[in-house]
Amino acid sequence: MIGSQNSEDGYYYEKYGEYINSWYMTHLMNMGIKNIGYKAEGATITDSKGNTLIDCTSGYGIGNIGHNNPVIIKALVDQLKRGEVNTRPYINKIQIELADLLKSIAPGALECSYLFNSGSEAIENALKLVRLYKGGKKIISMKKSFHGYTLGALSASGINSFKKSFEPLLPGFEQVEFGKIEELYKIKDDEVGAILIEPIQHDAGVKIPPQGYLKQVRKLCDEKNIILILDEVITGIGKTGYMFASEYFEIVPDILVIGKSLGAGLIPIGAIIARKNLWQRFGLSFPMSATSYGGNSLACRTAIETIKFIQDNGILESVRNKELILSEQLNKLSSQYPEIILSISGIGLMFGLEITNKNIASRIVRDMIENNVIVYQSFGNANIIMVEPPLVISFEQISKISEAFNKVISRVCPEINTIGNN
Ligand SMILES: Cc1ncc(COP(=O)(O)O)c(C=O)c1O
Repeated sequence: MIGSQNSEDGYYYEKYGEYINSWYMTHLMNMGIKNIGYKAEGATITDSKGNTLIDCTSGYGIGNIGHNNPVIIKALVDQLKRGEVNTRPYINKIQIELADLLKSIAPGALECSYLFNSGSEAIENALKLVRLYKGGKKIISMKKSFHGYTLGALSASGINSFKKSFEPLLPGFEQVEFGKIEELYKIKDDEVGAILIEPIQHDAGVKIPPQGYLKQVRKLCDEKNIILILDEVITGIGKTGYMFASEYFEIVPDILVIGKSLGAGLIPIGAIIARKNLWQRFGLSFPMSATSYGGNSLACRTAIETIKFIQDNGILESVRNKELILSEQLNKLSSQYPEIILSISGIGLMFGLEITNKNIASRIVRDMIENNVIVYQSFGNANIIMVEPPLVISFEQISKISEAFNKVISRVCPEINTIGNN
């Protein structure tokens, strides 16, 4: 019951730090999150003290259609009660239904798909698919990009602070500057097998590429017979106001990688969707097809219902309307406090606020949480405050985000010279 668990919270945090993850426990303490999460619903999380906060993390990108969406829960209960075959050696019908649906919503002629248990795992398998076709040829990715924490995904990622402790990473990866087509043209084409890119660099601060850049990357890949992989693990499933950001940028990759919100914040999932010609060697290789839980019926049902929820409820159109309101309010704030908010970058319901320094950013995050709005500092760049609520957030809740920012920043403003940057 809310409130009664309060005295136990310290105990759970201590145990979490001791036996699960001390870094994350300290991180939460620094953000000012000291209570246990108790209930999550739509765009909010209620903690054990009964405080209800607007969740502008969307559970770090998994909750586009809202926490504990009742439509998905009902479908999951139904799926469990059916008692269908959920495991191998049989295949299940629902996986084929999902494959059909993914084919119908994917851009261009991306026809074949395969399911895994996370975004990182899907990235690994996109990289393995490249190895099957291009042998040891290089995979080019972008500086400041993030593709996950498994060894292959880290080897492709461009955030050095994430990579350092795990070296040596895999050979055959190189990173170039995001948004500069000339950097890609410098690379010897006969050495390159694939280019892996996030259409919008999320952890770098929701960095949108210059106009036409992604189309130029597509053109280069066509000219030089290079496989283009788009990582839409976070930008996918409606976050930008389009089912996939690639639609907004009007490009079709050879391999599309998705995950996070496809599982509605409830069931782990990752997927790759690719052109049919890339699939021919898939069947020759058992290690591409081997996953114990990937494609299980609960994950498939969740993904199907999540896509239908977005389609049937006009979610994409509503995101574009909400984007207008939220971006107007954030831009107003930035013009009022240019000494604190240096820039704002974003699309759909995914914004990054560049703050003067990481200590001011951290103070704003703590004060926002005290004012019942959870925002967070990007893990890849602590100067950036991320604001990315679930797509089902109401207009009233959007106004509450702006009110909280106004209150917090007006208080922080007179103190900025005393908040250091170390
Ligand atoms: C762009 C991108 N790619 C891949 C991943 C890895 O996904 P997962 O955490 O499901 O392994 C993430 C996770 O934050 C991501 O943001």
